[in-house]
Amino acid sequence: MIDLRSDTVTVPTAEMRAAIAAAVVGDEQKREDPTVLELERRVAELLGHEAAVFLPTATMANQVALKLHGRPGDVLLAEEHSHVLVYEYGGAAAHAGLMTRGLPGVGGRITVEQVRTESAPSMKGADQRVAAVSLENTHNNAGGRVWPLDELGDVVQTAHELGLAAHLDGARVLNAAVAQGVTPATIASRFDTATLCLSKGLGCPLGALLAGSGDLIERAWREKHLFGGAMRQAGIVAAAGIHALEHHVERLADDHARARSLAGALHAAGLPVDLEQVETNFVQLDIAPLGLARDEALARLREAGVGLSSTIHPTVLRAVTHLGISDEDVERAAEIVPRALGSALPVG
Ligand SMILES: Cc1ncc(COP(=O)(O)O)c(C=O)c1O
Repeated sequence: MIDLRSDTVTVPTAEMRAAIAAAVVGDEQKREDPTVLELERRVAELLGHEAAVFLPTATMANQVALKLHGRPGDVLLAEEHSHVLVYEYGGAAAHAGLMTRGLPGVGGRITVEQVRTESAPSMKGADQRVAAVSLENTHNNAGGRVWPLDELGDVVQTAHELGLAAHLDGARVLNAAVAQGVTPATIASRFDTATLCLSKGLGCPLGALLAGSGDLIERAWREKHLFGGAMRQAGIVAAAGIHALEHHVERLADDHARARSLAGALHAAGLPVDLEQVETNFVQLDIAPLGLARDEALARLREAGVGLSSTIHPTVLRAVTHLGISDEDVERAAEIVPRALGSALPVG
């Protein structure tokens, strides 16, 4: 199957497996694993922060960050379809005691005005406050959309002026940086904390990092222990991360080019794909005009040999390019998908 369901389906390459096999390891929980320490150092530098801490998943990195930024009863602002609100099982409330306020966004982005309005002092007085805002870049549920730098900068600056902490769910921030041709630090250093995921476009089996100031990351260590995320010979996994940083970052541009090429071909075949929205490695396909139910469409595609996945939007399917997808895969998918969905239908 040409598996375009997600960039999380990648498996380690032979070279990554060799790096894993050669890893020098130690007790990570005692901060004695040299490979983990090196990965943390490199990611802190890459994201423009003083320090970083290695964690098993990006979900845990986000959840640790939220615990640093608020007390129970405080409010967290985020775009309503963001990962922290939709897919993390209410962790913001369960772990940090935060009340979450999901704001309607455009392309996964919220505005300065929304942050200002929502942060107005509450009727309960100073004790109940909006403590933090979390932004997602690239934005998963918006189809891998990228925040324009000036908009991002304005929202973060406004949050800081209002006394809010700003967290970046940058699980795919390297996709954003590559798409914009800027350093990852240009995006991530504006935030108090930033999550980076290793197991998506970077192709690692697992792992994520949370970056921030030395003080915040020291506090994050306590939360990491509390979550049960302090590990032992984790250098086995961190070695994959170092390999990915050295070999799998620039190539994200290939994933983006393949997504554009797939989107172009599907659009040319008459399928409803909005080319303007293809900014990174996601292609969104709206099946509403095809008169097909979502599950039926996905089943037909699977049978024909192409894996797509559903999204939060009931009629929208997505295809995600990644390390395991070649130019030939894209060419074949571009033939198979329109046939399986019964189109040469005109759009509309
Ligand atoms: C934007 C974003 N943040 C965080 C995560 C969480 O990653 P994980 O499932 O590895 O915890 C994901 C996963 O898809 C994501 O898309």
